[in-house]
Amino acid sequence: MVKKRVMIMGPGWVAGEHIKGYCRDPRAEVAAIVGFRPEDAAQCERYRQQYGFAAPYYDDLGKAIAESGAQAASVCTINHMHYANALAAVEAGLHVFCEKPLALTPEQVDGLVAAARSRGVVTHVGHVVRWYSAVAELKRKAEAGLFGTLYYGEADYFHQYIGEWKTKAATGGSTWLMGGIHALDLLLHFMGHDSPVAEVYGVWQPAQWRKDFDYETASCAILRFADGRLGKVATDAESAVPYTFRLRLHGTKGGINQAFYHSPDMPPKQWAKQEGQYPDDWHVAEHPFPAEVSYFLDCIESGRDSDLCFARAAKAYHLIFAIEHSARTGKPVRFTRG
Ligand SMILES: NC(=O)c1ccc[n+]([C@@H]2O[C@H](COP(=O)([O-])OP(=O)(O)OC[C@H]3O[C@@H](n4cnc5c(N)ncnc54)[C@H](O)[C@@H]3O)[C@@H](O)[C@H]2O)c1
Repeated sequence: MVKKRVMIMGPGWVAGEHIKGYCRDPRAEVAAIVGFRPEDAAQCERYRQQYGFAAPYYDDLGKAIAESGAQAASVCTINHMHYANALAAVEAGLHVFCEKPLALTPEQVDGLVAAARSRGVVTHVGHVVRWYSAVAELKRKAEAGLFGTLYYGEADYFHQYIGEWKTKAATGGSTWLMGGIHALDLLLHFMGHDSPVAEVYGVWQPAQWRKDFDYETASCAILRFADGRLGKVATDAESAVPYTFRLRLHGTKGGINQAFYHSPDMPPKQWAKQEGQYPDDWHVAEHPFPAEVSYFLDCIESGRDSDLCFARAAKAYHLIFAIEHSARTGKPVRFTRG
């Protein structure tokens, strides 16, 4: 089997999990690592030792694209670098797995969608929560109709970000682009990614105790779907309690509460525990990146779009921009992008 040659951009914290995924999957090999700061070369060497590959290190993205023979790329740089890095890879004809957030502005998101469409490459945005085994099984149960029609949903992402780039709008984006995206994406996943959203209303507040954030850290948003169903999402970037990912879904026959579900065949007051892994740890080593990397490779192999290709994932980002506009203006925003 000819292995797909993959370039890793930004050999930092999350990159190690992408590398682990490519090294475990027999269909891929790491072909190049591209770094953007002096310490990246040493980190590249640590990953070479840890995972047993010999790919060259580049500190020049253009040179890496021209020389490495890579056919695909994982963009693992920090948030404000995603647009330029993903665009360079797409324009060179590489298939691209871009970590979240896809980009920081509506124009950047639309630019990446257009570039991917015109080059015809496979793209994927790293909304890893969908790949937790308990979440995937709950989704299968929902699709099989076990809970009836899901008519109300809540998802919340509560975490505390440590690190300079994560606390500044110029590099991290916003509380929604940093982590709230995970909650919003999961809400869309369960309520129906293609169900049109008609209106959003967002509120937010500045940091209450951490002095280093220059963006609003806690935010809540209400979504009204075009068919009248409701969703609520919230996030907090300075949460002084352990990492929490909340999921609550009410259906006409039952529903979901975190890793528990209730279905018609159960006694009225009972919840059943969903076996498998549920998102309850912030550390990337506990996230199902290898499964997500294998899904990206499945898409390349079969030539089909990812469910989270740039064009489909774009919906969540445009919802975020609408929520943030609502929070800034204090008014609900009609959502016209579907
Ligand atoms: N899907 C998830 O659950 C998840 C989890 C963690 C991180 N992420 C995303 O992965 C991306 C990387 O996060 P990370 O924690 O691995 O980042 P990191 O701080 O380890 O940095 C990653 C790379 O970005 C580049 N970089 C960082 N700071 C730079 C600077 N000041 N100047 C130039 N280049 C710089 C470097 O190449 C570095 O190796 C982020 O976009 C983050 O949102 C996603």
